[in-house]
Amino acid sequence: MASSPAPSPSTATPAKQPREHFASRLGFILISAGCAIGLGNVWRFPYIVGEYGGAAFILLYLIFLVILGLPVMVMEFAIGRASQRSCAKAFGVLQPSGRWNWFGWWSYIGCMLLMMFYTTVCGWMLAYTAKMATGTFEGLDAEGVGGVFATMLGNPTELIGWMLAVIVIGFLVCSLGLQKGVERVTKVMMVCLLGVMIILAIRAITLPGAAEGLEFYLVPDFGHMFAGGWAGFGDAVYAAMGQAFFTLSLGIGAMEVFGSRIGDAHSLTGEALRICGLDTVVAIIAGLIIFPTCFAFAVAPDQGPALVFVTLPNVFGQMPLGQLWGALFFVFMSFAALSTIIAVFENLITFTMEKWNVTRSTAIARTAVLVTVLSLPCALGFNVLAGVTVPGIGDIQSIEAFIVSNNLLPLGSLLYVIFCLSKNGWGWQNFLAAADAGSGPRFPRWAHGWLAFGLPILIIIIFIMGYVPKILLWMGMA
Ligand code: PHE
Repeated sequence: MASSPAPSPSTATPAKQPREHFASRLGFILISAGCAIGLGNVWRFPYIVGEYGGAAFILLYLIFLVILGLPVMVMEFAIGRASQRSCAKAFGVLQPSGRWNWFGWWSYIGCMLLMMFYTTVCGWMLAYTAKMATGTFEGLDAEGVGGVFATMLGNPTELIGWMLAVIVIGFLVCSLGLQKGVERVTKVMMVCLLGVMIILAIRAITLPGAAEGLEFYLVPDFGHMFAGGWAGFGDAVYAAMGQAFFTLSLGIGAMEVFGSRIGDAHSLTGEALRICGLDTVVAIIAGLIIFPTCFAFAVAPDQGPALVFVTLPNVFGQMPLGQLWGALFFVFMSFAALSTIIAVFENLITFTMEKWNVTRSTAIARTAVLVTVLSLPCALGFNVLAGVTVPGIGDIQSIEAFIVSNNLLPLGSLLYVIFCLSKNGWGWQNFLAAADAGSGPRFPRWAHGWLAFGLPILIIIIFIMGYVPKILLWMGMA
């Protein structure tokens, strides 16, 4: 056997130390897809499509996925793969001056803030699976279902109980290890999710009266998007951009860590394309389940966040075998949310291990305590702390979601781009070399101009646009 070449002492990337990698390429792709596929796909995507007018909005969203999401995903993976570290250390490894070290915290804080509300909402999905399976919604009209939801939100013990169930499941899986826990469980969960999703979509599309829903969902009607004039269109653009970052889990290093667990066999542009593709397929099919179902039972799809929790249980109640379909639907939702929870917990754990140089079990214990305590305000925000609100934003859950989705994700993504392009960061050539290692499509060179000028300007304009109505409101001018 040929001996491996001696590592050159002057490489821009460090000598690779033994680090646990995923057992297979499929594991890497499904875990990254599992991190991306979550409440953003199955809950947020359908309701914002419903609010902003169906297919025309989807087109806008797809454009943003390609021009904003894809390049940032490749960058996060490249930083992880080249440094073989989580965000705790990656920036210091790639830019030894230490100028970027602070950016590691962006990842830790962002992922933690995300979990602070995600555990509660994921808990609702588990609660609804149980309620559906046990027939809680049987015979209830929409008002009755709304009552069940409101009662659940008003009961801190119930909310915290489900939230704790989510946290326990997530950390149990992580405590089995990267390959034996996270990789194995997520793989099974993602395959089941895809299977259940296809069954549900076939059921929905073959409902009598489904065609109208398909039309609303799949045939673009730009008139609808401009119904509120240019301001309405601006809102749609803002929502589409936010959704692109959120659904792909970009801007807070959630994906970076998985890049640090793979080798150089495949180019990252190819891997990112696959993961984006899976994420998009799941979002689109979630809509194929929800819209035909709504239209078949003559309920409006523009109910906002309540669509899944209030409208749909009522619809399932009117369907033959509704209890079964309803329970399956919430199993689908729960798997999507749990795969994200497990992935982000894994990220927080790896960060903790590297930052404070502790063992995996210590990192798990510390992270579990922190996530549990920090998840309480969100759950309590629907009842005991319901008075805590910010005008123009809302309750505690909305405040946390606002900080993450409207601030940390877009600005974090911008910082990833700056890091990968700037000589004061990692630099374009280093980034390209890392992204292109292995077989598969190369990162397009011509994208440089867009990434250096177009993308930053777009993010900043849209970021400011999102604040204008809030600032006007805060100043008492709207
Ligand atoms: N992409 C996840 C979803 O769609 C949410 C997420 C955002 C996860 C940012 C990690 C980081 O639900």
